[in-house]
Amino acid sequence: MPFDVAEALRARHGENYELHDKHLNNQLARVLKTIGFDQFYVRGEGSYLFDAEGKRYLDFLSGFGVYALGRSHPALKTALHQAIDLDLPNLVQMDCALLPGLLAEQLVARCDGDINRVFFCNSGAEAIESAIKFSRQATRRPRILFAEHAFHGLSTGALALNGGADFREGFGQLLPGCSPVPFGDIDALRRELRRGDVAAFIVEPIQGKGVYMASPEYWREAQELCRHHKTLLVLDEVQTGLGRTGKFFCFEHYDLAPDIITISKALSGGYVPVGAILTSDRIFSSVYSSLEKALKHSTTFGRNQLAMVAGLATLATFDDENIIERARRTGDAFVEALQPLVERYEMLHEVRGKGLMIGLQFGAPTSKSLRRRFNTLERLRPAIFSQMMVVPLYHRHRILTQVAADNVNIVKLLPALICGQEEIDYFVAALDDILKDAHDGSGLLFEFGRTLAKGALRKSGKLRPDAPYTTPLTHDNVDNDNVGNGNGNGNGKWNGTRQGGGQSSIQVNGKSDNDANDATGEVAVSTADDQPARAAPL
Ligand SMILES: Cc1ncc(COP(=O)(O)O)c(C=O)c1O
Repeated sequence: MPFDVAEALRARHGENYELHDKHLNNQLARVLKTIGFDQFYVRGEGSYLFDAEGKRYLDFLSGFGVYALGRSHPALKTALHQAIDLDLPNLVQMDCALLPGLLAEQLVARCDGDINRVFFCNSGAEAIESAIKFSRQATRRPRILFAEHAFHGLSTGALALNGGADFREGFGQLLPGCSPVPFGDIDALRRELRRGDVAAFIVEPIQGKGVYMASPEYWREAQELCRHHKTLLVLDEVQTGLGRTGKFFCFEHYDLAPDIITISKALSGGYVPVGAILTSDRIFSSVYSSLEKALKHSTTFGRNQLAMVAGLATLATFDDENIIERARRTGDAFVEALQPLVERYEMLHEVRGKGLMIGLQFGAPTSKSLRRRFNTLERLRPAIFSQMMVVPLYHRHRILTQVAADNVNIVKLLPALICGQEEIDYFVAALDDILKDAHDGSGLLFEFGRTLAKGALRKSGKLRPDAPYTTPLTHDNVDNDNVGNGNGNGNGKWNGTRQGGGQSSIQVNGKSDNDANDATGEVAVSTADDQPARAAPL
């Protein structure tokens, strides 16, 4: 019998956590249950996820940054459907297909200087592995420098460049010759480069684990030092690239000209894994130096044509919908809207970032009584305060966010770049609501504790969703233009119809004594599911 995806989703709806408990990462399933994030999403569109009841959740994680264009963008769907229907001669391997050439052409057209070659792979970590190899081969030097707090992926080479001890612990000796330098410390970088044995300085233009930034002067000097010592500057744009920070590449903010650029995440719109390094002829030809070495660095799925189609459709949509400029404007408006909360609440120390990569830095309040309460909490578990923000943002307001890294009181926001004023307003009002409770000392801690207690008590694998699965109405099977999808693009290009695209109200039904839903540990939130979900354009 042919596999019927809709039937499988209908028949087995609700077995998600049970199956993960049994066969996948059961600790992840446990964590999600404990914090009450064990939801059964059935559909994603624009900036939103939807459950089987049609309740919508504002997704400010964007799949860790892959959904720059939001989920289920019709331009990507159409291109991918078309590619499948064309029976493309995919992965012939002993050929040079057109589509990888077209995507490479598009990518290098967005670069300055001598960047004119592309190697395609399947993930961010694999792009980093490639950058390590190309750098060592091109310079014939052994060492790689990376920044403290860095995150470049979790394969063993990329892990050797990881700033977090917890990630590295237990896996034995990793790639030799990799040394950390403090991020933004030009003297430390100078000391290491002086040794003359460093192949590459691999660094994120904005660090994802904390949304840490360095000064423009640092970047200018770092690039000069790398050039002076013939060390390659490798900028990891896996998270910051493709418009995330309001420029196509984040390094454009600092006017840099890296030797190697790594990209991944947003390139294929979340549909097909893809990664790439962009570099110069000189560096490329150090690896592919003769006919015999034509396959010296390669990967089976590297130029797979569905990824290439998704990449080409993504870049075309970036241009059609002016995504980069919108991300810049929306990001500015977002930071401006968040700023009054910094003035209002002592625990919110800073809002930082560029474009739509935003970090909310929390910390100890200045006033005595508040500080005592904050410190008592932090003694329970370091950086618990940021968890106390993320959990009620989800339960009260159905907003999905993340703590930026272990043991830091930083919440990171990575909205889809197509989000708009409605999403900003909704988030700011929700954060205001939660910070007010934290500030007033009303039931937030109790609510947080109750969520965790319920999650911990919930029986492993026995959770069931509130509603049965029904095949979602989609652009393809509904003909109605009256309601939107919360994509906030405001340009009339993508205003399809959805079931349950309702507007969650920020009015909470009570505070600490909310009427919690026993099945999900969720706090009841009033909704008006008949409201249009489209956000107002900026
Ligand atoms: C800057 C950066 N580099 C590399 C990676 C690794 O990418 P992947 O998870 O696709 O291996 C990530 C992932 O979050 C990242 O943020």
